[in-house]
Amino acid sequence: MPLMSGKKGLVIGIANDRSYAWHIANSLKTHGAEMMFTNLPGEKMERRVRSAVEELGIADPWIQPLDATDDDAVARVFAQAAEHAGGRLDFVVHSIAFADKTWLEVGRFLETPKAAYLQAMEVSAYTLLSMARAARPFMTDGGSILAMTYYGAEKVIPGYNVMGVAKAALECTCRYLAAELGRAGQGIRVNTISGGPLKTLSAMGVGGFSTMLDHVAAKSPLGRNIEGGEVGDTAVWLLSDLSTGVTGQTIYVDAGYCTIGM
Ligand SMILES: NC(=O)c1ccc[n+]([C@@H]2O[C@H](COP(=O)([O-])OP(=O)(O)OC[C@H]3O[C@@H](n4cnc5c(N)ncnc54)[C@H](O)[C@@H]3O)[C@@H](O)[C@H]2O)c1
Repeated sequence: MPLMSGKKGLVIGIANDRSYAWHIANSLKTHGAEMMFTNLPGEKMERRVRSAVEELGIADPWIQPLDATDDDAVARVFAQAAEHAGGRLDFVVHSIAFADKTWLEVGRFLETPKAAYLQAMEVSAYTLLSMARAARPFMTDGGSILAMTYYGAEKVIPGYNVMGVAKAALECTCRYLAAELGRAGQGIRVNTISGGPLKTLSAMGVGGFSTMLDHVAAKSPLGRNIEGGEVGDTAVWLLSDLSTGVTGQTIYVDAGYCTIGM
């Protein structure tokens, strides 16, 4: 029987067929999961997300508009998704982040305005908390929540700047959520995947991104960058019953880059 057979969940963060969320959905589909999706509000975004999801071979997909900074919308869309799925959710993929790229230039961290700092934190970290809160009532048989992070949370990556601060908050949010939700009698797990650099829309906004790709290829134990599908397959493991003892963790899918000192 496929690993994810009978499991239903929400995948949030597909912008196009390069998105980490798209690769995760692709692997989830291969392993038999049923998925629901969201798009940033707007007709153009809806069209883009729908076409990327249809590329996965999912006909007539369930897609709702969602700006994740709107708590009421998060609660409403999660309830609608659960209703569509027959009253429960087994997994949630949080694969979203945002920071104004003006402040993602090498050497510009000090200048980051308060509004840009808070916006990065809100979209990229706080929304994991609001989504977990919205998912919990529907994860009656346990569940698995996954978010995407990056090594810039722990070490200085030139240009990653305020996104690094937001990713540190995201990873910490994951641990506190894991501690509360694991003991809620429902055994909900929360983990993050720290993915290597991948050429996506968001990544192109990070100053010096191509230097990151070159550096990983030169220095990582595997001597290359990762492919989106490698994160997708690890996501399947974290969202499936193969990882029932794993929670509050950051799992690295980075060709081993984070293990190298010099
Ligand atoms: N690409 C990389 O190198 C890399 C590496 C490690 C981690 N990540 C993380 O992976 C995740 C996905 O990014 P990606 O690289 O696939 O880029 P992407 O641009 O394909 O996806 C980012 C998504 O965030 C969504 N988003 C932004 N603001 C939102 C909001 N207010 N409400 C709802 N959705 C919103 C966008 O619509 C988009 O779908 C992010 O958390 C990112 O930080 C990316």
